Amino acid sequence: MAQPWSPSSWRNVPILQVPTYDDQALLETVEADLRRQPPLVFAGEVRSLKDRLAAASRGDAFLLQGGDCAEAFAEFSADHIRDTFKVLLQMAVTLTFAAQKPVVKVGRMAGQFAKPRSAPTESVDGVELPSYRGDIINDGAFTPESRVPDPRRMVSAYNQASATLNLLRAFAQGGFASLEQVHRWNLDFVAGSPAGANYEGIAREIDEALGFMKACGLDAHMPQLAEVDFYTSHEALLLWYEEALTRQDSLTDQTYCLSAHMLWIGDRTRQPDHAHVEFLRGVENPIGIKVGPSSDPDEIVKLTEILNPSNEAGRITLIVRMGADKVLEHMPAIVRKVNGAGRSVLWSCDPMHGNTHKASTGFKTRSFDNVKNEISRFFDVHEAEGTVPGGVHFELTGKDVTECIGGATAITDEDLASRYHTHCDPRLNGSQSLELAFLVADRLKSDRKKAAASVAA
Ligand code: PEP
Ligand code: CO
Repeated sequence: MAQPWSPSSWRNVPILQVPTYDDQALLETVEADLRRQPPLVFAGEVRSLKDRLAAASRGDAFLLQGGDCAEAFAEFSADHIRDTFKVLLQMAVTLTFAAQKPVVKVGRMAGQFAKPRSAPTESVDGVELPSYRGDIINDGAFTPESRVPDPRRMVSAYNQASATLNLLRAFAQGGFASLEQVHRWNLDFVAGSPAGANYEGIAREIDEALGFMKACGLDAHMPQLAEVDFYTSHEALLLWYEEALTRQDSLTDQTYCLSAHMLWIGDRTRQPDHAHVEFLRGVENPIGIKVGPSSDPDEIVKLTEILNPSNEAGRITLIVRMGADKVLEHMPAIVRKVNGAGRSVLWSCDPMHGNTHKASTGFKTRSFDNVKNEISRFFDVHEAEGTVPGGVHFELTGKDVTECIGGATAITDEDLASRYHTHCDPRLNGSQSLELAFLVADRLKSDRKKAAASVAA
């Protein structure tokens, strides 16, 4: 790109999927207000996440990223944050136990408010209104007033993100995430499911191991056992918000977007010469790129060059989201091109966004089997290509919702109506999430055993 980068250079190139704000003066007031606010995360934390993602790209760690499709103002509560955090901890411990490597924990939390949409408007009973674009932009209620984009929502989102992060930091470092609490992360409704019962088995083994270590004189309060590092991420879609939270690090003079540790570019906004790529190329954060079935392998290579000219490890995560029926057709060519070009990337699997369909009862849903199959095929492609399957990306909640069909508790199309609470895409509930963690854990374990056997041979 010829033009020099600045935090606002995205304003000079085409942009998709953002609202038009009618009140420019109000927008500028909000931007000025956000620029005065403290950053939500710190540059040193962002650097440590990048190092861990670099390890995951080499197969020395594994990335677990997950949370709501869209955080919502109305769903904001300490319980909601705690339950999502609990499920992620359960999944992480399950994966760590199986893979015997560190799991990098990244929430779709504390900033995941802006949504790209498949259509700019939505019609109900012959009435057409602008689409809902996430609580940071407009309101979901189907009235003309609700759908007007309001820049002041950025301040509300910042405040919610800040309170969310405060609680997450307390949970991560204040004793709640200690391995001594491993039984307490099992949510009531999850404990009764087959995955919950399997989890109890692991929790008991961890207890035994901790007991043994204590008997040997090791301290269970050492930070490695008593605390976790938990990182935040969201789609960097609403660039006024992201620009206002961009800062120069006083230690290194480098520029970071401090609204979250990791930011990603959506499948609909990854055009190499458009605004979202332009903005993110100049900040030092780890960047995710969603890679859907329409991706051209050469264009993905080009994106990695624009966003990571020095080919730094940990900078780029390619989040593949093809759909279970498309992954074998589209993914191998992309893996081969990126790998053949020598680009350093972390490969992660989002088995959610290519698997959305309409249920017979009218709800937008995803089937557990499709999610499961996409993950298995993602691993199969990496096995065939000799590349590293380094992570997974889920839309999930700790709540006992009925939004995705299937899983051991066999949610059906008819069940969807009972607890369908999402503000955007359908999420896995706590037991479905844990069930998938076991599936991934089994695969990581068998890969580990195969690798050990080939070293021995
Ligand atoms: C998302 O992650 O919520 C999303 C919209 O994903 P994608 O860009 O892959 O469709
Ligand atoms: Co989504």
